[in-house]
Amino acid sequence: MNNKRILILSYSYSSQTRNLLNGLIEGLHETEREVHWEQLSLPSELRFPLGSVAATVIMMVQTFFRKRYPVNPVSSACFEQWDLVILAGPTWSYSPSGPVLSLIDRDGKQLFAGRMVLPFISCRGYWRVHYFGLKSLLKRCGARVLTPIVFSHPTPEPWRTIGVFLKLAGRAPEAGSSWFRRFYPKYGHSRQQISECRKLGLKLGQTMQAGDSLEQLVFPIPIQAEELSKDDSRRLG
Ligand SMILES: Cc1cc2nc3c(=O)[nH]c(=O)nc-3n(C[C@H](O)[C@H](O)[C@H](O)COP(=O)(O)O)c2cc1C
Repeated sequence: MNNKRILILSYSYSSQTRNLLNGLIEGLHETEREVHWEQLSLPSELRFPLGSVAATVIMMVQTFFRKRYPVNPVSSACFEQWDLVILAGPTWSYSPSGPVLSLIDRDGKQLFAGRMVLPFISCRGYWRVHYFGLKSLLKRCGARVLTPIVFSHPTPEPWRTIGVFLKLAGRAPEAGSSWFRRFYPKYGHSRQQISECRKLGLKLGQTMQAGDSLEQLVFPIPIQAEELSKDDSRRLG
């Protein structure tokens, strides 16, 4: 039996990456892949939501300049031999999140040198600069970087940008009976995207089980399940 092992390293601030990964891991487990999921934690966790417009603006400016958010040490299992490392997290001001940047600064070479790394991005909609920046950091650590898996929020612009800002500022834009709710029914990813993620996990697990190259495995970018559901058997199958 082909016993390929997968390490998932992730950070999630408002649970969106975590929700998607729950789907992905469900799919991977269906193919009996061995998965170790390491969720990054901070010495003092960031409050979600931030709770004010001022705090949100400050965080956006700081993260635009790639502010690092130090993370607690990761477990020794992360430094074992893994066939695939999935590095997952949100986009923060067009870059990888501060905790992921800190992890790469501190442990990047030990974690990623010589490894196949699959970037996994949860974002409102703007992932390209994040991906190219991350790819270059990972390559400097000696990783082989695969085409990323990207999920963007399915709500159209400009509502998702305003919605994310209000959500961070603690305004719960999707709640109550305001007119805004008609255009912004939900913060973050849809249930359908989580279920697409399970299918992706299954496909990834099957590809590894068959011993096929992961470099051939390319998913649509970004994944908005509403589009995918039209012909997902062709695109994922
Ligand atoms: C400080 C901050 C900056 C953000 N900047 C961007 C951005 O530049 N582009 C984008 O598409 N989403 C941006 N987002 C939205 C998140 O990427 C998005 O909500 C993601 O789904 C959150 O995932 P998480 O809950 O796992 O942290 C930002 C969020 C935060 C908190």
